[in-house]
Amino acid sequence: MTTWNELINAGMECTRCGLCQERHHVVFGVGNPHAKVMFIGEGPGEQEDLQGEPFVGRAGQLLDKLLYAVDLDRRTNVYITNIVKCRPPHNRDPEQAEQDACIGYLREQTRLIRPKIIVTLGRIAGTKLIKPDLKITREHGTWFERRNVWMMPMLHPAAVLRNQNQMEGALRDFIILREKINEICPEVYDMTSS
Ligand code: URA
Repeated sequence: MTTWNELINAGMECTRCGLCQERHHVVFGVGNPHAKVMFIGEGPGEQEDLQGEPFVGRAGQLLDKLLYAVDLDRRTNVYITNIVKCRPPHNRDPEQAEQDACIGYLREQTRLIRPKIIVTLGRIAGTKLIKPDLKITREHGTWFERRNVWMMPMLHPAAVLRNQNQMEGALRDFIILREKINEICPEVYDMTSS
């Protein structure tokens, strides 16, 4: 059984797919490893690759604002990661083989964190983790229960930035998330960073 530190160390040296060749950093994740709420995006972009942290570019700044709106914070009471941990060149979608090579890290992260709620950000994470035929524009903000874990697809914050008409819907999803947290794991709002 892998421990959290062993998992991070293995991830940092990973050469399971070609994305390792051009990366500056493996972007493993950020936040509280005891979080009850996990956010999963698709893969690091340029800023994330340079800084080694998920969602630190423009989309990440919007994500931080939406988290803040419902009293969540990337370092305190959630954990944020991606399907693939290394940047696909020119921010292309991660290929199926790259996702498959990387998914073991996400499975182990999830096994160790044991979240009660998983939020997927965007189509790639939603179709990979919730259901292959997910229609993100229609089904974002709805709940899917999988083996006692509540999963919600959300719009990707980068997509919301491109289409500001979606901002209201994006905020509504976070409010729906807050309701679920209050219902099943209100201790999220008492957590300090650890
Ligand atoms: N988009 C993602 O899906 N993940 C990041 O970490 C940054 C942008």
